[in-house]
Amino acid sequence: MSVRRLAKEQPESFAFKPETLEKANWWIAKYPDNRRQSAVIPILWLVQKQEGWVSEPAISAIAKMLGMAQIRVYEVATFYTMFMLEPVGSAALIQVCGTTPCMLRGSDKLMEVCKSKIGAKDKLSADGKFTWQEVECLGACTNAPMAQINDYFYEDLTPENLAQIIDDFAAGKSPKAGPYNGRHTSEPIGGATSLLDPKLYDGSASKPVKIPNAPVPEANA
Ligand code: FES
Repeated sequence: MSVRRLAKEQPESFAFKPETLEKANWWIAKYPDNRRQSAVIPILWLVQKQEGWVSEPAISAIAKMLGMAQIRVYEVATFYTMFMLEPVGSAALIQVCGTTPCMLRGSDKLMEVCKSKIGAKDKLSADGKFTWQEVECLGACTNAPMAQINDYFYEDLTPENLAQIIDDFAAGKSPKAGPYNGRHTSEPIGGATSLLDPKLYDGSASKPVKIPNAPVPEANA
């Protein structure tokens, strides 16, 4: 497990935007008042959505809001890798899966593309637009190799189409998420190969089932 620490350079302050505050209060209201700390993860997430990352002043503000020790919020923020502890690219945070299925399908080549187009892993690019990371399995192994970019999965990638996706983000576009090899979600390429009988789906293959000694409904008695 990697050691995760807060960024060396921190902003002077943090303030909740009104819309973030409204959503935070919605989460807090889901719990009894003496258990408002239970909202810590969603509120950290809301703060990350607002700022792009979680700063020390933000941790302090969340601790105050939830009536908990700052160290407890710090523990949660540093434990879960979904929380970014340094500023990330304004256009895209690219998380390339490097676990075995994706590795066997060429994730190392995807990482080379990231390195050549963006720069070093885990560092903000020179223009401030991109950050890329290597992450563990994201649960889309059937669409390996893949990457999560901001909030979406980009799947069945090749070095060429990842390079294009990065160029599109750099140009301010929003490239489509999902598989990049023409298939629908994780269906086989070329369409389904099993469970093809339409009767399976129109109800005509189903038969009433008789259950021995089942009680007869009164209306039919
Ligand atoms: S190994 Fe890459 S998504 Fe599971």
